[in-house]
Amino acid sequence: MTNNWRIETQAVQGSYAPEPTEPRIPAICQSTTFKYTSADHVAKLFDLDLADHMYSRISNPTTEALEGKIALLEGGVAALATSSGQAAVSGAIFNICQAGQHVVAASTLYGGTYSLFANTFPKMGIEVTFVDPEADINEIGDAFRPETRCLYAETIGNPNLNVLDFDKFSTVAKQMDVPLVIDNTFATPYLCKPLELRADIVVHSTTKYFDGHATSLGGIIVDGGNFNWDNGKFPELTEADPSYHGLKYVEKFGPLAYIVKARVQFMRDLGCCPAPQNSFLINHGLTTLPLRMDRHSSNALALAEHLEQHPAVSKVNYPGLKSHLSYPLASKYLPKGCSGVMTFEILGGQEAGKKFMEACQLIALVIHVADARSGVLHPASTTHRQLTAEQQRSAGVNPGMIRLSIGIENIDDLIADVDQALAISQQ
Ligand SMILES: Cc1ncc(COP(=O)(O)O)c(C=O)c1O
Repeated sequence: MTNNWRIETQAVQGSYAPEPTEPRIPAICQSTTFKYTSADHVAKLFDLDLADHMYSRISNPTTEALEGKIALLEGGVAALATSSGQAAVSGAIFNICQAGQHVVAASTLYGGTYSLFANTFPKMGIEVTFVDPEADINEIGDAFRPETRCLYAETIGNPNLNVLDFDKFSTVAKQMDVPLVIDNTFATPYLCKPLELRADIVVHSTTKYFDGHATSLGGIIVDGGNFNWDNGKFPELTEADPSYHGLKYVEKFGPLAYIVKARVQFMRDLGCCPAPQNSFLINHGLTTLPLRMDRHSSNALALAEHLEQHPAVSKVNYPGLKSHLSYPLASKYLPKGCSGVMTFEILGGQEAGKKFMEACQLIALVIHVADARSGVLHPASTTHRQLTAEQQRSAGVNPGMIRLSIGIENIDDLIADVDQALAISQQ
């Protein structure tokens, strides 16, 4: 039934239908463990013949409610929540990629993901080739190798804010017969649904707009359930898993094979599960996601238009602006808005940028984005600091760039704060 609800209703009531006298909202189940009366029941859980809760590293009722709601919002078959967005990105790849294999990724990624792919994965034997997301289809295809196991990109690149050409990326992924894995953190399923645009797996940092109030770290992997894993490239899904007495995921779980394996193998072994308290808070935040995304987007567009006219600003980067390179793609894939993150370049470069950030009063200097409260940050010296100058350029980070995460406050107050800080920055 909930599949037929519109997204605003799903965000409020999706995936939780209490029986009479049960709590109206999913309660915090702060228990690591669950009780049984028969040894056979427990044996069936370990053999994956039953999906009841067993141990909160593998699943937990509070987290299950969150996973069900996000799977519904994204239009996937199931989801696995993790302790952070980084854990979700790592898990999505580890689930189908091992030493000796390879990933092709858009170069315009969140700095933490870029570092993971450029520095940490290679130490584990997984190589990543970065491609310019503006490159043509043949050039992206040229980056593939026989051992490539997925194509990875962000719906809206952080902080370059380029909008992904889903037609192009999904076509390459289909041609190469590998899944397209999309980080949909900045767009959220309210603004864009990658699984409807032929992506196969979606990941999120739920720390961002899903929580929306800067309370809880979290991540999630959502499985679209459509990819054909039985194409010879993914024996870990089609052949016997010795850690489950020879169980074959595709044979036993069909369209749920990928996400079941992520839960019972990746999460079992690496243990990056969310705390129930955090799952509760993120689910609570999700209730207002559609309302917040409308306001984040309209506030950001109004401020971007204001900054574009401001004499102390040399460039504004927001995909909702007609001047933006991604505007045609934003109009196609993000018709409801482009979320709350934008960047701009200030006259006077890095020094003026520093003065600007320190002069903001309402807008706080924070590392975070996607909070209900507005924030400001200098990516080159913070989120993308560990990257070389060349890597920063390819991720779209310029030395003078300032990133704003526009919250849901009153737009007139935000514009007033930015104006007074810009005036100070030019003194
Ligand atoms: C687009 C994107 N993906 C992944 C992450 C990592 O998420 P977390 O900080 O929850 O580990 C972030 C964090 O900022 C992000 O912006």
